[in-house]
Amino acid sequence: MDLYEYQARDVFEKHGVPVLKGLTATTPAEAKQAAEQIGSPVVVVKAQVKTGGRGKAGGVKVAKSPEEAEQKAAEILGMDIKGHEVRTVMIAEGADIAEEYYFSILLDRANRSYLAMCSKEGGMEIEQLAVERPEALARVPVDPNVGIDDAKATEIVTAAGFEGEDAAKIAEVLKTLWTVYNEEDATLVEVNPLVKTGAGDIVALDGKVTLDENADFRQESHAEFEDAAAADPLEAKAKALHLNYVKLDGNVGIIGNGAGLVMSTLDVVAYAGEDYTGGVAKPANFLDIGGGASAEVMANGLDVILGDEQVKSVFVNVFGGITACDAVANGIVGALKTLGDDATKPLVVRLDGNNVEEGRQILADFNHPLVSIEETMDGAAKKAAELAAK
Ligand SMILES: Nc1ncnc2c1ncn2[C@@H]1O[C@H](COP(=O)(O)OP(=O)(O)OP(=O)(O)O)[C@@H](O)[C@H]1O
Ligand SMILES: [Mg+2]
Repeated sequence: MDLYEYQARDVFEKHGVPVLKGLTATTPAEAKQAAEQIGSPVVVVKAQVKTGGRGKAGGVKVAKSPEEAEQKAAEILGMDIKGHEVRTVMIAEGADIAEEYYFSILLDRANRSYLAMCSKEGGMEIEQLAVERPEALARVPVDPNVGIDDAKATEIVTAAGFEGEDAAKIAEVLKTLWTVYNEEDATLVEVNPLVKTGAGDIVALDGKVTLDENADFRQESHAEFEDAAAADPLEAKAKALHLNYVKLDGNVGIIGNGAGLVMSTLDVVAYAGEDYTGGVAKPANFLDIGGGASAEVMANGLDVILGDEQVKSVFVNVFGGITACDAVANGIVGALKTLGDDATKPLVVRLDGNNVEEGRQILADFNHPLVSIEETMDGAAKKAAELAAK
């Protein structure tokens, strides 16, 4: 789960990372009040959206009075930044910036480690710097069992080319950012820019934090970061039902068991859509109902998919393993009975694997007018695509 900048700011503050004052506002009038409350001669009005490049898009604006903050907030609220509507702005205390640096720590899956990145050249798009002048971006592996202690912090700032008092001050801040990463179970903590002020202080001006949702069970306070307004309603519903569901933009609903099978089902449906419907039929979602595939889980999955107005047909693709095909077929029958008249769209079912004959027989005996059985994955994808394109 990604945090908004203002949430990252609050988390930083909680762990002793130096930040400036910041208050959120959802209306221009609130923005004016917030600027008054902050009371600095300059404030910065910042769009709160979970995407990068806000500054370039016009979502970060300086204001020299509360009235001006109100004006800038009126310009920024409602803006669309890369498909994200700005509903909230943060009014931040204006910093006296002498220099802008970059720091991040992230999960390095390939190396089964953490990676710290640091540069004297922050502010700009770091991806560009990494490509154009990789030598300007220090990359230092961080042992998860040790973290960023004094020695590691010194190693990082030295690799980035900092010296003397700056190096010592930045190293202190990196240790606090490690505390954020470690204690909050983050997979990313990025500060761009980390600034040196005119007075020589180091401050985190912009923070991006991604939290590991697998740790939610031991991070009660993270529940407050759930972003109901930004979440897709179908994804929210699926989440409440503990389903692995991702909404996509097509019209063929997809249910499968096992993430790999579902991924390849998306592929074959996309190909079948191209081949047989001229690209009209496309996958509408990813939904992995896992190994169990009980009637209840199947009913929940179908319920979410059928709630998607774009869906015109559903492809149920199940490979019977530990849960055999007859159990899955019973799950489908149970689901259709549970849903009753709510099941309104054609279902193409492909079963294979353990007890496949029994499974197909159960569906054949059930003889539901909306259900058709296909023997192969390609055949089922073609059928589902054609039904969606009708
Ligand atoms: N509180 C502040 N005071 C003064 N200047 C600021 C402040 N916050 C941001 N800025 C300036 O605006 C620039 C862009 O701000 P910020 O990094 O928050 O947005 P961004 O980088 O465009 O957005 P993103 O990080 O989402 O891509 C900073 O590099 C800095 O120069
Ligand atoms: Mg930034």
